Amino acid sequence: MPRLAGKIALITGAASGIGRATAELFASEGAQLVPSDLDEAGLQGLSGLARRLDVTSEADWAEAFAAARAAFGRVDILVNAAGIGEGSSIEETTLASWRRVMAVNAEGTFLGCREAVRAMKETGGGAIVNISSAAGLVGDPKLAAYCASKGAVRLLTKSVALHCARAGYNIRCNSVHPSFAETPMLTRMIARAANPEKVRAGLIRATPIGRLGSAGDIAAAILYLASDEAAFVTGAELAVDGGLTAA
Ligand SMILES: NC(=O)c1ccc[n+]([C@@H]2O[C@H](COP(=O)([O-])OP(=O)(O)OC[C@H]3O[C@@H](n4cnc5c(N)ncnc54)[C@H](O)[C@@H]3O)[C@@H](O)[C@H]2O)c1
Repeated sequence: MPRLAGKIALITGAASGIGRATAELFASEGAQLVPSDLDEAGLQGLSGLARRLDVTSEADWAEAFAAARAAFGRVDILVNAAGIGEGSSIEETTLASWRRVMAVNAEGTFLGCREAVRAMKETGGGAIVNISSAAGLVGDPKLAAYCASKGAVRLLTKSVALHCARAGYNIRCNSVHPSFAETPMLTRMIARAANPEKVRAGLIRATPIGRLGSAGDIAAAILYLASDEAAFVTGAELAVDGGLTAA
């Protein structure tokens, strides 16, 4: 029996990296997809109701849920995987960069959770999985805005989980905290460094398990939290980081 048989899953950031791997894994586990991204062309090849969704746009969220409900009757799973990474220390971070990162990573996740709760409570419940980061659990001196945005996602998740549990909505909400997963986001970050090979080796050295993660490693954790196997799991934070934050 496929692990997501009969489920309708809306996934943001589905054009690339973790979102894309999640969409492919979910489809292989029987889910019907509403894959979405700012980069509409990047959604090619994914099954389902692909659509452009800018997670910072309140109107886009309302339209995406309305379209999903019109096509499938409900949304059972929301995965908030869209995100951007801009790295700088507190001294170097411009207000414009802070706002860009917060708008996509924190506000985008807030808008998605709000839309999902409003819709799912009318259709019997569901599961929300928010992609935070190891940088939402521990600080990184070079990621001031990114850490702040991912910390916000971590505690937003718990607030949503408690609200839904206490209200009896049958909606679970959990966060996943990847560390260095080899996706276009990480590859771009490494390529920007003065000595990319040295940076890559440093990231591997920093990871107790001795390798970088893959998008598939993260998607597997998202699948568990989205599935009914995690029926008693809500408000949890799952580090998928090769042991990085265990030390
Ligand atoms: N790769 C890592 O090492 C790593 C580590 C920790 C957390 N994360 C988080 O995982 C998530 C996925 O990252 P990834 O590594 O797959 O990155 P990625 O750059 O490969 O994919 C991110 C996707 O988000 C989309 N996106 C960006 N802004 C958007 C917006 N406003 N609306 C809709 N879509 C938008 C992009 O078009 C892209 O397709 C992000 O939230 C990221 O912060 C990644």
